[in-house]
Formats: sequence, C-alpha cells, structure tokens
Amino acid sequence: MTETFDQMQQRALSDPEGFWAEAAEAIDWFKPADQVLAPEGAFPRRWFVGAETNTCHNALDRHVANGRGDQAAIIYDSPITGAKATYTYAEMLDQTARFAGVLAGLGVGKGDRVVIYMPMIPETAVAMLACARLGAIHSVVFGGFAANELAVRIDDSAAKVIVAASCGIEPGRVIPYKPLLDGAIDLASHKPNHCVIFQREQATADMQPGRDVDWADAMATAEPAPCTPVAATDPLYVLYTSGTTGEPKGVVRDNGGHMVALTWSMKHIYGMKPGETYWAASDVGWVVGHSYIVYAPLLYGCTTVLFEGKPVGTPDAGVFWRIIAEHDVKLLFTAPTAFRAIRRDDPEGKFLKQYDLSGLRGLFLAGERSDPATLEWAEAQLGVPVIDHWWQTETGWPICSNCMGYDLLEIKHGSPARPVAGYDIRVLDEGGNEVPAGEIGALVIKTPLPPGTFPTLWNAHDRYMSAYFNNFPGYYETADAGYIDEDGYIFVMARTDDIINVAGHRLSTGGMEEVLSAHKDVAECAVVGVADQLKGQTPVGFLVLSSGVNRPREEIQSECVAMVRNKIGPVAAFKSAIVVDRLPKTRSGKVLRGTMQKIADCQTFKMPATIDDPEILAEIEDALKLAGYAKA
Ligand code: COA
Ligand code: AMP
Repeated sequence: MTETFDQMQQRALSDPEGFWAEAAEAIDWFKPADQVLAPEGAFPRRWFVGAETNTCHNALDRHVANGRGDQAAIIYDSPITGAKATYTYAEMLDQTARFAGVLAGLGVGKGDRVVIYMPMIPETAVAMLACARLGAIHSVVFGGFAANELAVRIDDSAAKVIVAASCGIEPGRVIPYKPLLDGAIDLASHKPNHCVIFQREQATADMQPGRDVDWADAMATAEPAPCTPVAATDPLYVLYTSGTTGEPKGVVRDNGGHMVALTWSMKHIYGMKPGETYWAASDVGWVVGHSYIVYAPLLYGCTTVLFEGKPVGTPDAGVFWRIIAEHDVKLLFTAPTAFRAIRRDDPEGKFLKQYDLSGLRGLFLAGERSDPATLEWAEAQLGVPVIDHWWQTETGWPICSNCMGYDLLEIKHGSPARPVAGYDIRVLDEGGNEVPAGEIGALVIKTPLPPGTFPTLWNAHDRYMSAYFNNFPGYYETADAGYIDEDGYIFVMARTDDIINVAGHRLSTGGMEEVLSAHKDVAECAVVGVADQLKGQTPVGFLVLSSGVNRPREEIQSECVAMVRNKIGPVAAFKSAIVVDRLPKTRSGKVLRGTMQKIADCQTFKMPATIDDPEILAEIEDALKLAGYAKA
C-alpha cells in the first residue's frame, strides 16, 4: 500500500531515525553512519554521525558509473546572451574533476573556503561541485551585491581562493565583476591567495599578475582530482543571508543530511523521476539556486535548467513557456514575483498559448507569500497544480508543502499547506505558550530539526543560539509569524524581525539603516518595506536631517539612494528616501516602523497607546503622499 501524506508525516515524527535511515539508502556512503541522529547532549543533534561521503561523488561520479553519462545534467539557456548549451553528466564530471585539480593546484583542500562570485553560467555549478569534490567549503555571493557586501563575506569566510567571472549581464547592461571584486579585496582585511577568473566575451577582465589565474588557461593543463571523503557532518557550504543587522549570517550546510533531505524532497515533494527535467528559475546566489538548481536535481539524477534571464523582457513574457516546451520541463519552481511580472505583461496568457506545455506537471512557488490572485491566474493559465511552499535559507529545503509524490492535499490559497517530513510546527505567544488554531503567533519548529537544516552559523555559534533557539527553548524560531488552521494548514503572514522580501530576495532594513545613518547630514533614519504590486515589497527610507543642514532635500535623498546601491547593491531596489522633520516614536523612543508601513500601504491601524506625539503621523502621511505612496 502506498503511504499517504499523513502517514509520511506521522512516521517522520514518531521514528525520525528509521525514516531518515531509509531515505539515506538513496545516497552512496564511503562509511555508514554510527548514529543516524546523535543522542541528546551537544546542540544541535547532528545527523549521520560517523558517516563518510562526498557530495560531488553523489551528484556526478556515481551517475556516470551507473550509466547516466550521456544524459544531460545541465541545460544552459541564456536568452540574455543568446547562448544555449547542454552538458552531459560525463562532461560535467570531466569539467568538475579538472577544475577541482585547478583549485587543488592553488592549495585548496578539505575545509578551506572558496568564495564564488559568478553569474548564471554552467561554470558556477562546476566551481561549486569542484569545491564539494575537494571537501572545500564554497560561499557563493549573489552578483547583485556591491563590493562592500562581497568584502564582508570574504573577511568572514577567510577565503583562500575566489572564483569569479569577468562579468554578469542584466537586461540592457553588462556588469563588469572584476572591478567589484578588486574593490572588495581592497576593502577586505583578509586577502585571498588567488582569484580564478572565467573570462566572458561580453567584458573581459584585466588580470593581476601573480594573484589572478585565467580559468581557461588553468583548465587546459589541469589534472582531474579525485573525490575527498568528508564526514557527513562536515560543511559543504556557507551561504550568507540577511540577519537583523548589517552583518549577514553565514548559514552552514552539511554534506550528509543535506544530500539525504534534498534527494528525498525531489521524489516526495516534487514528485520527480530520475532522468526528467526540473527547472528552478532562481539564481545560484540564493538558497533556492544552491538546493534546486544545482544539488537536488543532480543528486537525484535529473536534468537541471540553468536559466540566465528574466521572466519578462528577455525577450518577452513567453520565455518561461519557451523553455518549458523546448526542454520538456516537468516541474517549474520560481518566486511569485516572477509570475506577477509575467501576468502584468501578458494578462491573457497570449504567449503561453503559443507553446506545448503538456509535459509540465506542476508549478511550485516560494520565497515570499503567494498572493491568491497570482496563484489563481497561474492555475487558470497552466492547468496544473500550483503549489505554494514555505522555506528559508536556514532550512535549505521546504518546511511546509503540498507534495506531488503523495496524495495531493486540498489546495488552500494563502497557505503553503502542511509541514513535511519531520518538521513539527507550533505557534507560540510571546510567553512561549501554544495558541489555539486560527490565532497568530510566532511560528516555531520543535527540535531536533530534520536533516539538511543548518547546524550552525559560520564563526558564530553563539549568534546561532541567540538568534534562533534562546527565545523559545526547545524550538527553532523561524522569525515568521502566522497561524495554523483547524485542518493543520500553516499560514505564514509576516516576519517578526526587520527582514523584508523584495522580489523574493531577503533583505534587512536594519542593514539599509546602517548605510543611511552613515550619511553626514542624516541624524536619524528608518527603513520600512512597503507593498509593491510587482516585487511584493520595496524599501522606503525616512531621513531626519541634522539641525543646521540646509542643502536641498532632493540632493540628500538621491545621495542616500546612491549610498545604499553602492554599499549593499542594486538588488536592494532602494529607490526612495524621504526627508521628514521627525520620526514617530513611542515614549520610550522606539521608532514606530510598523505604523509607518501601514500608513504607506493605506492600511487601517490602531493608534499606538504609547506614541509620543500622534500628530507626527499626519506629517508622515503627507510626506509619503508627496513621494507617491499612501494613496488608496
Ligand atoms: N547582478 C547584478 N545586478 C543585478 C543582479 C545580478 N545578478 N540581479 C539583479 N540585479 C539588479 C537589477 O539589474 C536591478 O537593477 P536596476 O535597479 O538598475 O534596474 C536590481 O538589481 C533589481 O533587480 P530585480 O530584483 O531582478 O528587479 P527587476 O526590476 O530587474 O526585475 C523581476 C523584476 C520581478 C522580473 C525580477 O525581480 C525577477 O525575476 N524576480 C524573480 C526573483 C527570484 O527568482 N527570486 C529568487 C527566490 S526563489
Ligand atoms: P530566504 O531565506 O531568502 O529563502 O527567505 C525566507 C523567508 O521568505 C521566510 O522566512 C519567509 O518570510 C519568506 N517566505 C519564503 N517562502 C514563503 C512562503 N511560501 N510564504 C510566505 N513567506 C515565505
């Protein structure tokens, strides 16, 4: 008899060790685990303790050995450059083993960190897998971040080598990466020994003799390197994500638990079969890209699509449908914002009707709350299940989802359905007490968390404990607020911290405030995320100027916009800074950001009882209206 969704969840909660030991059979281990889950004691309890394995071996070598050598591993489709290429598993293995040889020749070994600053090209996956092959720890930095953010990551990871491309390409402009990279290395206190540069024809980079190595030259003479056995609990990568300060959190992922969880998810959550084509339209710089562009599809023997383009404008709102039809994509995973963009440009789905999408079985959405209007539009257009699922960089794979590998649960718009394998979700009030069904509170997950979730933050285990586990002992604090309905469906409503979600990208308003407060004329500032029809949210900054400043406000506002772009990067989409006379505060001095956001979004709000001076709110509303916000 086949297992149902309910039975799966029941089994994972009542017998986690049995459940995950069975899932681990899908992975090759050089040495089996002594313990599937470590006993109570050191925190967190680790998975597959004592086991030895290698992620690259499981993603490439074993598939080639098992007869998948001629199957496409990666289909690279770049409407932005017009390039298309297919790399078989055998070709990926050859490239990866040789690039691992290049890195080894530069002194990279087990446990060393390698920063990867690359766009959406196959060489990025090669570089990631080559690190995995050597047991080195990669840290991929998204191309839309500025030099300063790159410098922070170089310093925190103390990278021995940086792998970069000469440029990224955005619609209408080429972004030379090398000046950003050189700038970041100048800013960083830690200096890498070498940079390996992949030259793209759209903008070649100047090389620094002695330090910089040309990718193609090095590959021409490289000897393939074998897979280095690593402990299941050793780190595979560090991925920095926004925290509640300007200092990003280095989320650490292990090798063993990660492979087991991702492989399980491909079959059971996404309902895929090895040999089929899976497409996550995201970026390798984000967790979705790590998990579902590179690792999960390859670990499971699927073909993955690496898409260098945008949902609209490269060249039009039909590009997603062209790719699905051309590459026989069975499952698409993207952010709701991509569908909002497509719907905006092609509300009647005219492009969609030009393609044969009969192979597509489902669409999964994540990264931000899926608004029901977009979900309904996507369902009507595609005629396949549209599944909202909830997860975070910290977990690395979905926490809640409807599962295509099981009986599909009823779809409730606005909910990512129910917890999957081993996630035991509760809703707590501020005192840590469980609240009744339907009541909003902090969404938390009872520990131990399932395999694949983060065991620590890089160089910051105390922060790991204080940010995630200390507030509610025994639980992981997701920093999302929401509720569970009477059928056990989870509704994720808002963040409880300063994180906002801009086009599915996670950004810290606190980080932006740190940049703004460094402006010489700014005495005080606040950044809030206001609703945006396309991107879900966009940041708006409020500036209070130091007394005596009498330069034109517009000048200071544009300087502030430029500062955020230069310090954090264009991805912050920070386009609006508004000078106000004062910020609304409580009597104890806390800035009422939530109230400002509600005014901007024209939402009703309760006048905070502790507000210092209620009249300020009218001034804020006027300033917002002048800037084009707060208009119902
Ligand atoms: N390198 C350099 N710059 C980048 C970049 C990169 N890799 N990615 C984005 N940027 C820049 C963009 O060029 C843009 O700059 P601009 O302000 O000069 O125009 C800015 O960062 C914001 O980019 P983006 O969020 O992509 O906005 P957009 O207006 O160009 O496009 C969408 C809007 C909705 C089409 C786009 O956000 C999108 O495709 N979203 C899907 C997001 C996604 O996949 N998220 C992953 C989570 S699953
Ligand atoms: P990231 O770590 O970048 O993946 O962002 C994680 C955050 O995105 C979560 O904490 C949520 O706030 C938000 N998020 C992701 N998926 C969903 C979803 N399906 N519904 C609502 N919010 C989501």
